[in-house]
Amino acid sequence: MSETTTRLRAVHGDITTLAVDAIVNAANSSLLGGGGVDGAIHRAAGPELIAVCRGLGGCESGEARITPGFRLPARFVIHAVGPIWRGGVHAEQELLASCYRRSLQLAFEYGLRSIAFPAISTGVYAFPRERAAPIAIGTVRSCCAGNPTLREVVFCCFSRDDFALYRSLLSAPGASSTLSS
Ligand code: APR
Repeated sequence: MSETTTRLRAVHGDITTLAVDAIVNAANSSLLGGGGVDGAIHRAAGPELIAVCRGLGGCESGEARITPGFRLPARFVIHAVGPIWRGGVHAEQELLASCYRRSLQLAFEYGLRSIAFPAISTGVYAFPRERAAPIAIGTVRSCCAGNPTLREVVFCCFSRDDFALYRSLLSAPGASSTLSS
């Protein structure tokens, strides 16, 4: 049985600087850009990105689409549309988990070896960060078990608070990031 080691780690910084196979964008359903990390990624990728996104026809919440990274160090951008937090009684948790799951499925389909996620939905979309982080980590862990290609998942934290939260969750007892297939 081949051993698949998927390393999960947190970094503090700007996702547009990461030279990974794919960075994930916290997009909106139009896929036509916005503020926050969406704005940063479009600025760094250059105008070709919006031109390609115009042809995608949008994306519903919980889903993801992949495009080239253009001028970014990352080869690809995976645009995931997170849920808007409305009190936690509109399947927000399931939709957030779906963003991570669908992004990873695209990474597997494309045979990617590394991927970086921002803290999807925890900015403008107001998903409480302390609820979002365990969903993010738990979904990534369960999806990566047994995958043949993905070697590294980076949780790119823009704020110090997020970085401290992800590091504590990733270093919790039993939080082995080595998975065997
Ligand atoms: N690198 C990494 N993370 C970043 C960056 C960056 N350059 N810029 C912002 N972030 C972080 C925020 O601090 C937050 O933790 O990304 C997380 C998600 O925040 P938002 O970008 O506001 O995304 P979200 O909450 O999912 O809201 C999406 O905002 O920008 C619009 O078009 C976007 O309508 C969509 C909505």
